[in-house]
Amino acid sequence: MTANLFVPAEGIYLLNHSVGRMPTSARDHVGAQFFDAWENGTPDPWPLWMNALGEFNQALAELFNTNAEQFCPQTNISSAISKTLTALPKRDGKNVILMTENDFPSVGFTLKQAERLGFSVRFLPTEADPQFVDTWADALQDDVACALVTHVHFNTSRQIPVTEITRLTRDRGIFSIVDIAQSSGAVPIDFQQWQADVVVGSCVKWLCGGPGAGFMWVDADVVTCLEPADVGWFSHKDPFEFDIHNFEYADNASRFWGGTPSVLPYVVATNSIRQMHSIGIAKVREHNLRLTQKVLDSIEPEYSVTPVKPELRGGTLVLKFPRQDQVKAALDEAGVLFDVRPLGLRMSPHIYNTEQEIDRVIECLKA
Ligand SMILES: Cc1ncc(COP(=O)(O)O)c(C=O)c1O
Repeated sequence: MTANLFVPAEGIYLLNHSVGRMPTSARDHVGAQFFDAWENGTPDPWPLWMNALGEFNQALAELFNTNAEQFCPQTNISSAISKTLTALPKRDGKNVILMTENDFPSVGFTLKQAERLGFSVRFLPTEADPQFVDTWADALQDDVACALVTHVHFNTSRQIPVTEITRLTRDRGIFSIVDIAQSSGAVPIDFQQWQADVVVGSCVKWLCGGPGAGFMWVDADVVTCLEPADVGWFSHKDPFEFDIHNFEYADNASRFWGGTPSVLPYVVATNSIRQMHSIGIAKVREHNLRLTQKVLDSIEPEYSVTPVKPELRGGTLVLKFPRQDQVKAALDEAGVLFDVRPLGLRMSPHIYNTEQEIDRVIECLKA
């Protein structure tokens, strides 16, 4: 049973948009890949750890149908975006960073800091629908240097047409950064279908990989044009050259790495990514859509902030009821774990959530 592959939670756990339940195999995997080297007296654990970091990139490459060397481990998405912004080449007449009001606030904070570098931030018009390609076609004007595209918005669970938008950005010579925090592990993603320049993500949510294992992916044709300001010896072409007067960027995404990396979060996450990949993200998606549809079919359509059409939504349901407080109280009473954001209450069924759990949730929504 798939459900037994993940650590259970007390109650009906629907906070997978925040933290996914870890695989039950996590502790054994971490023992074998991280602690055994210490406990067996290995004098230099670094070869083993470097191998583990390589496995992290490899696991991501298999999940997203791309190459391992295009990935660079990152602490989190905000940090990956900050580094990317410092790396963008300066081009006359192009200094706008385009984003939407529905991107994750932390991402907005990092983009705002790019004003120190001479960029200015512009939002898509609030009344425009970010799911319409034409909205982007109109907004991607000549002065735009970079577009931030969030694949699934955290506050509405709207799925944004990344394939079409990155086709536009590439055609118009605009740099693109795609945020897959809310889609990786929930929606099948094939990087070959996109023409993104950089993709940033983390493993803590639907990939069930714990905190601290973020990542970035960089397009192979673009990477050598990017020169991040935040570097370290692991960003160097030859980290063991040890010439303090000579820094040369690595030829691949490792140029975004920095100083001595942490290892443990990536060991934890690799096991989770592999487990999710072997279950199959298509299967996760199918299960999620079945359960979320059940909820949507049981309520008035106007109570859903999330699009009702399956192809337009991510894995989360964002719901707003006229009697929101009563619904919240009923969910609390039933032991449902959900959260509340300005646009509504969020619930995210994963592969380990059952139909019976969703039936219980539906009873609460009738409160
Ligand atoms: C769309 C999106 N981007 C980014 C993040 C988090 O970014 P970071 O890894 O910097 O914490 C979240 C967290 O909920 C998110 O939903």
